[in-house]
Order: sequence, then structure tokens, then C-alpha cells
Amino acid sequence: MNNATQSKSAFIDPAAIPQRELYTGATMPAVGLGTFGSDHVTPDQVAEAVKGAAAVGYRHFDCASVYGNEREVGASLEAIQGNGIKREELWITSKLWNDKHGENDVIASCRKSLADLRLKYLDLYLVHWPFPNFHPPHCDVTSRSPDAKPYIHASYMKTWRKMEELVDMGLVRHIGTSNMTIPKLKLVLRDARIKPAVNEMELHPHFQQPELFKFVLDNGMQPIGYCPIGSPGRPERDRTPEDAAPTEDPVILEIAQRHGVSPAAVCIKWAVERGQTPIPFSVHHYRDNLECVTSDPLTEDEMRAIAALDRNCRLIKGQVFLWKDGQSWEALWDVNGEITPP
Ligand SMILES: NC(=O)c1ccc[n+]([C@@H]2O[C@H](COP(=O)([O-])OP(=O)(O)OC[C@H]3O[C@@H](n4cnc5c(N)ncnc54)[C@H](OP(=O)(O)O)[C@@H]3O)[C@@H](O)[C@H]2O)c1
Repeated sequence: MNNATQSKSAFIDPAAIPQRELYTGATMPAVGLGTFGSDHVTPDQVAEAVKGAAAVGYRHFDCASVYGNEREVGASLEAIQGNGIKREELWITSKLWNDKHGENDVIASCRKSLADLRLKYLDLYLVHWPFPNFHPPHCDVTSRSPDAKPYIHASYMKTWRKMEELVDMGLVRHIGTSNMTIPKLKLVLRDARIKPAVNEMELHPHFQQPELFKFVLDNGMQPIGYCPIGSPGRPERDRTPEDAAPTEDPVILEIAQRHGVSPAAVCIKWAVERGQTPIPFSVHHYRDNLECVTSDPLTEDEMRAIAALDRNCRLIKGQVFLWKDGQSWEALWDVNGEITPP
């Protein structure tokens, strides 16, 4: 099905989409549209999907400066509002890229995203990764920046102070983290004046991150789940032979058959029922991905069966952000329960 076919399909009432309440009392739709074209879907195709998705009922869009399409997406967001959808009905997220952590760069970078997206404010602005490590677009996983650094909490907090200033300035309604771990989040929660409202993290049936998921909720944040269907279109550089594919899992396939929906829809239903906010990317299936959360929920048995599928299989390992030769990607994720020493 192409974009045009999708956008003519029946409208899904946004009021039928579950909402997440943030600690500020604001509500965020519990399904959003991802906008990372994975290096093979063009900015114009993504922008077209944003328009089509709004036309079928999406109100939540997950953007980022590094996706290289905020100008095109911004034109769609302007058109959407011209078609009668009010700004306050939309939830727009953007993210600060790794090369803009410097104290003088944060506000300027947010202003650039706002200008590109043609918005006066963002609902949510995230620090995309907790490392200030830059790598050239499209590089392979063996690429390392000579200036790459480990997580340095004092440096992160300097960036965070600027994020807090964005809230004070009214440019951003909420701020949040992404790709964090429990030990890093503990320090940020201890030191933040304005606490993160969300943590965006990889979440799908083969990578459920139960401890971090619980930690995020227990601390009054919302977990936003990226790669919710296992990112079947991710770039080659993000693939390794051990990677699992949740949409090919026999348990998911069987549940999909029982409900008469796609395996992707099962992953999205599971995500919403579990309590995270999935942000599936799609230029072809976005309507199905929204409609599936409005009816025919998974049963408790099915939820339990999917809970048992966790394989701790991280797909987005982040190798390019490593700071030392010979390191394994696990160093980025504090797998020993403490921040990996420099
Ligand atoms: N914070 C971070 O560091 C971070 C990292 C990664 C991603 N993200 C965000 O998360 C979003 C989602 O992640 P992702 O794009 O990597 O992975 P994903 O949403 O798990 O997978 C997207 C892929 O699945 C296909 N697809 C979607 N719905 C489908 C359906 N119902 N049936 C069959 N195929 C379907 C899409 O193809 P079609 O287009 O053909 O439908 C696309 O190739 C990104 O776009 C981005 O906004 C954030």
C-alpha cells in the first residue's frame, strides 16, 4: 500500500488512542510515529508519511535533528495545522544531537529544530545519547571518533542545565533522556532541578529491559520505546548475526494469526498494554499501527507469553560511540550495574 492509499483510509479518532500522563499532568498519546528514515527512506517520503499519519489520526511525532529531515517534516506539521488540527492537539518531540552538548550549543540547536519544524515550542526535547561523541553520517560500526569521551556526569549536567533553561524560556514543555542506564539516571535524578519526564529506550518483545523499564516508571518518568517492532528496516551498520527479529518469533506469529493482525501489530499492542509508548516508524503501515491499539487487546495469557520471549537482544548497540579501542559495545550500557569507568 502506498502513502496515498493510506491517507485516504478511514480516520481513527485520536480520543480512542490511550494516553500517558506525565508528572506535569500533561498527556501524551501512547503511540507516536517515528521519523528516522534509516538512511533509505528519503526526507520527502517521511514528510509525506507524517501528513498521511496525521490525516488518519496520529497526534504524536518523534523527530530528531540527526534524522536530517526536520525541514521537510516541519512543512508537513505546518500543513497539518493549516488543515485544522490545533498545535495543542499535537505532541512533538525532538532531540539534541551528540555534537551539540556544549553549553553554547544546546539552546541554538533547539532553536534550529524549532525553526525547521516550524514550531514555537516542543512538547518534549531529549538528550539523544548521554555521550558527546560525534561520528560522520553513514559510517560503519568500526568507525571511532578520536575525540570520543565516556559518560562524564559533570559534563552531562552542564548540558542538562541548558535543557532546563529551555523549559524556563518556554521553548520546550518537557525534557527527557534517551539511551540511559539505571546508574546514570540515578545521578541525573539526584542532581536535576527539572526532572526528566521520559526516558526513550529500545523496547520490543526480544529486548524488554525489565529493570530499567521498572526504574523509569517507579521514578515518575514515562518509558518511550523505540524499535518497537524490531526495526526490520534498520541500516546495515546496525545489524549483527546474533540479532533476533520479534516479527518472526513463532509466539508472535501465532498470536497475530489468532487476532487476524500483523506480527508488527502484536508488538505494538503488547507495548501499549505493558505501559510503554511505542513510536513505530512507517511509511506504508502507519494506519494499521495506530488502529491496532483501539480494539481487541491481547489477553493476560498472551501478555505473559510475550513477557517470556525476552532475549536481552539489543539491536541498537551504539558501537560508534565507544571511546577506547578494543572496547565491547556493552561498555556503553553499564552492564555491571555501575557507570563504566573511563
Ligand atoms: N532515541 C533513539 O536513540 C532512537 C533510536 C532508534 C530509533 N528511534 C526512533 O524510533 C523510531 C522507530 O524505530 P525504527 O524505525 O528503528 O524501528 P521500528 O519502528 O521497529 O521499525 C520500522 C520498520 O518496520 C516496518 N513496519 C512498520 N510497521 C509495520 C507493519 N505493520 N508491518 C510490517 N512492517 C512494518 C517499517 O516499514 P514501512 O515503512 O514499509 O511500513 C520500517 O521498515 C525511529 O523512527 C525513531 O523515531 C530513536
